[in-house]
Amino acid sequence: MSRIGVLTSGGDAPGMNAAVRAVVRKAIYHGLEVVGIHRGFLGLLHKEFVKLSLGSVADIIHRGGTMLRTARCEEFKTAEGQARGVDNLQEEGIDGVIVIGGDGSFRGALALANHGIAVVGVPATIDNDLPGTDYSIGFDSAVNNVVDAIDKIRDTATSHERTFVIEVMGRRAGHIALLGGLAGGAESILIPEIPFDMDEVVFKLQRGLNRGKLHSIIIVAEGAASGLAVGEEIRRRTGLETRITILGHLQRGGTPTALDRIIASRMGATAVDLLRIGESKKMVGIVAGKLVATDLDEALKQKKELDREILELAGILAI
Ligand code: ADP
Ligand code: F6P
Repeated sequence: MSRIGVLTSGGDAPGMNAAVRAVVRKAIYHGLEVVGIHRGFLGLLHKEFVKLSLGSVADIIHRGGTMLRTARCEEFKTAEGQARGVDNLQEEGIDGVIVIGGDGSFRGALALANHGIAVVGVPATIDNDLPGTDYSIGFDSAVNNVVDAIDKIRDTATSHERTFVIEVMGRRAGHIALLGGLAGGAESILIPEIPFDMDEVVFKLQRGLNRGKLHSIIIVAEGAASGLAVGEEIRRRTGLETRITILGHLQRGGTPTALDRIIASRMGATAVDLLRIGESKKMVGIVAGKLVATDLDEALKQKKELDREILELAGILAI
């Protein structure tokens, strides 16, 4: 292995830059050349290659987004697209690729590996829905963005004694809603993994108001329901004045937290080590504080479990 590629793909996540920096610096430290592939698999198909130096990743550790840019690329899901991607890598003399992204990006990584390219995945998605790791890069920053928003909304909610419904990201996974809701002191947390009961949401709301709560905050993951619909249903059933906030892409931007920078640095460096010792088809993860490598195909067959104890705890603490 003498020349490796690195790309970021799918939804961006704060901390991706710190991961790119770690990959580049660790690889150069060990005498490898590093090629940045711009715009994920789309850039791979269009040969958007740029040689990266120590200096090209300077001053990015604290920046959100990804300096390599990211994209979604339908063509790479086809056999022809994948074959062209492999040809382009071979033409460029790239023996191994580090793919920084979520589960979709890892499926693309697996396709490259099945064509004989050495591939290691670094989990980066605010959804934190990848098995094989406790944390994906970007999740902690997104949760902190959510909590920051809840805190601000709480100020105005208290002043007006209003009920707020806050819709957060997570089409198929409720991890952001769950931890954001716990840290933000939400009355109810609605997530896609567990069907919710509107009667219970309304019961908790009224119980809180009866004991003198000045406001109520309900967190809804976008995959569980529409925040607008939940807000309207609460208003219809209770007559309470409700306000709805959809946090949207605000959650995905901004400065990565220290935790995201730390895990990105550790995971990026470990991905380089795995390629150096001849590993492929692996994803890096952090489990109970320790770096681990999981088989990519195994990881993609599983679904990350949601911590139901946290959901229960959030319910108890909001009593
Ligand atoms: P994420 O990595 O955040 O889950 P996506 O699901 O949008 O993001 O996937 C990012 C990209 O990965 C897709 O646009 C596509 O180029 C590639 N990809 C996704 N699924 C596959 C697949 N089954 N085979 C090959 N490439 C895939
Ligand atoms: O996968 C990350 C994520 O932010 C999801 O939480 C969200 O549903 C989706 O991406 C939004 O995708 P887009 O950026 O295409 O709107």
